[in-house]
Amino acid sequence: MILLDGKATSARIKSQIAAQVEAMVQVGGKRPHLTAILVGEDGASKTYVANKEKACAAAGFTSEVVRMPATTSEEALLNEVARLNADPDVDGFIVQLPLPRHINENRVIEAIDPRKDVDGFHPENVGRMMLGLPSFISATPFGIVTLLEEYGIETSGRHCVVLGRSNIVGRPIANLLSQKAKAGDCTVTICHSRTKEIAKYTREADIIIAALGVPEFLKGDMVKEGVVVVDVGITRIADSSEKGYHLVGDVAFDEVAPKASYITPVPGGVGPMTIVSLLKNTLKAAINRQS
Ligand code: GUN
Repeated sequence: MILLDGKATSARIKSQIAAQVEAMVQVGGKRPHLTAILVGEDGASKTYVANKEKACAAAGFTSEVVRMPATTSEEALLNEVARLNADPDVDGFIVQLPLPRHINENRVIEAIDPRKDVDGFHPENVGRMMLGLPSFISATPFGIVTLLEEYGIETSGRHCVVLGRSNIVGRPIANLLSQKAKAGDCTVTICHSRTKEIAKYTREADIIIAALGVPEFLKGDMVKEGVVVVDVGITRIADSSEKGYHLVGDVAFDEVAPKASYITPVPGGVGPMTIVSLLKNTLKAAINRQS
């Protein structure tokens, strides 16, 4: 079993990005700038945004967090999006999800200028990605594909089972892996909460992407020997530690790892790859805007 080390892989990519940024600055270019809008006080969202800020600093980007209270109106958030769309200093920005329930997420995403949509959530970017046209690919699917590529994992002709059908992970990763492209050419099955007998599919899978958000859903008896497992789950489980919680993936790691050829740990697998993919998208947005 080989651990798909997202932490080490992302660190390597981050230092390549940092070198590219320094080269841009040397010839008079501007540092890429990422802004994150954080609405409310969700603990996980605060951690993710803090990690994104830290990664920006490590890569030589400038960044800013716009914090808005949970009571923010949709109109006020849309005004902030419009301001960032128009701000020439901002290369890319993200609206951290989930948003408070009184705000329509789709309306907010559709208001983002697709050229600054480094999360790749805007329908224009999603559509272009599906057609294989240049676009911003959302960070988690992009990170997963990069991790598979970095480890030289063959995808062509293999059966990939995606667990979960979210707009952010399940459906875009299923689409990418089925494309006629590098880290593509898979036969893809999407399973979700209404799928009957999920184990029937997972036992046939050469590659499993687990993105259901159900802690330790994938058990040892649900996979075949030699399977490649990518665990996207990151559920916080309360405990008596200093932090008050620990992170649990969608895979029962101790049972599945002995049967797997490759497997991601949680934490240290997909999470850091997601963040470095956001940096890649922001660098691309900055280069597009400067050229
Ligand atoms: N919430 C969970 N994942 C993400 C992400 O990749 N981007 C944003 N904006 N919010 C998220």
